[in-house]
Amino acid sequence: MQSQADQWNPDSWRARPIKQQPQYDNPSLLSEVLGEVRKLPPLIFVGEVDRLKQYLAAAGRGEVFVLQGGDCAERFQDCNKDAITSKLKILLQMSVVLCYGLRKPVVRIGRIAGQYAKPRSQDTEVVNGQEIPVYRGDIINSFEATLEARKPDPHRIKRAYLLAASTLNYVRALTKGGFADLHQPQNWDLTFMQKVPQRQEYERIVANIRDAIVFMEALGNREESLRSVEFYTSHEGLLLPLEEALTTFAPEQNHWYNLGAHMLWIGDRTRQLDGAHIEYFRGIANPIGLKVGPSSDPKEIIEICRTLNPRNEEGKITLISRYGEGKVKQHLPSLIQAVRGAKIPVVWSVDPMHGNGIKTQGGIKTRDFDAILSEVQESFEVHQQLGNPLGGIHFELTGQDVTECIGGATGITADQLDQNYETYCDPRLNYSQSLEMAFLISRMLGQA
Ligand code: PEP
Ligand code: CO
Repeated sequence: MQSQADQWNPDSWRARPIKQQPQYDNPSLLSEVLGEVRKLPPLIFVGEVDRLKQYLAAAGRGEVFVLQGGDCAERFQDCNKDAITSKLKILLQMSVVLCYGLRKPVVRIGRIAGQYAKPRSQDTEVVNGQEIPVYRGDIINSFEATLEARKPDPHRIKRAYLLAASTLNYVRALTKGGFADLHQPQNWDLTFMQKVPQRQEYERIVANIRDAIVFMEALGNREESLRSVEFYTSHEGLLLPLEEALTTFAPEQNHWYNLGAHMLWIGDRTRQLDGAHIEYFRGIANPIGLKVGPSSDPKEIIEICRTLNPRNEEGKITLISRYGEGKVKQHLPSLIQAVRGAKIPVVWSVDPMHGNGIKTQGGIKTRDFDAILSEVQESFEVHQQLGNPLGGIHFELTGQDVTECIGGATGITADQLDQNYETYCDPRLNYSQSLEMAFLISRMLGQA
């Protein structure tokens, strides 16, 4: 691998086999659009990326906890005030609950401002007897199920970039401008608590958080810690022509950075050692997430980590395990032992969503709140037994009142899913399911 390191370029991935890409039938239009995107200002700044990497290094050592979450697929139509505000609000509230339970700083990373491209298990689907390309995310094609609407359209890439910029602009305004006052538990919607047996315990936690905030304000710390919060962006780095266009050389750091998101992750379907995605990602300085699932071989994961992180930098790689409920004990211990044996520093995170997809009898894609919680519990137990810090958690969630996952205190049943089923891709936890999850996980991990 050493000799290849010299040959890396933002476009050296083009010589490798690639998966999960759309087939554009107008390559010159694609190049033109990418050329326009290149001329636009970056979304983020290299200093922010380096700072996040420092936090992640601390998460790898067990000093900080990472909360990563947001939509499975952001939709263009959700680039609006309410959707962004509610997503930020739930992530901030969850982070406060986790910070309280774990007694450590929580770094927040949204699946936001660029999470527009999706890997799919099939290239096509049959709708009304016609075979059409699958939906691959708003950055590629339309959800509308017609042959014409499903044609990959390069113009969507520029639109996605502008909407990501607009989203991030509003996120920055909210996080720097006092919206973080939503730390204030009196603004939280806690109606779901009426139905849970742990109600008193949650009420006590909320009261304690409120007291702690009042105490900090009394110390005069309000401006610094409470009014403004740090928030980072991430998305799956799937559509490599775009990721390449967002890649810039930073002379002071003497390194290449992707300035479209602070952190990017490599999906479970695109992490082939000799594939295009690993080739692209090995050249950028951003922290990188790597999804690991039942099909991953620990030896291959070690090789991938070495390729992505040749300098063995702390905070560079986050391994995001997503085995599914009941499968963690079979797979995770050997991966932890292999990574530790190879002396590779990583942040260990768990994504309890992607191994727990189910379909109802009526054919609706859903996930069960209890299965999600169980995978977190199993993962936590494995890490604890091996004396390894679980450094983070990765959710698909929304701040809105959707009905996509079953279970939780509000007791959504399979029959109720069609009441407000919005997602174009995977089912997300809604506001109260997410907050309840944070309380449960905070209690679970707080016992460590
Ligand atoms: C995702 O995070 O949306 C995703 C597709 O995950 P995975 O690659 O783990 O299946
Ligand atoms: Co998903």
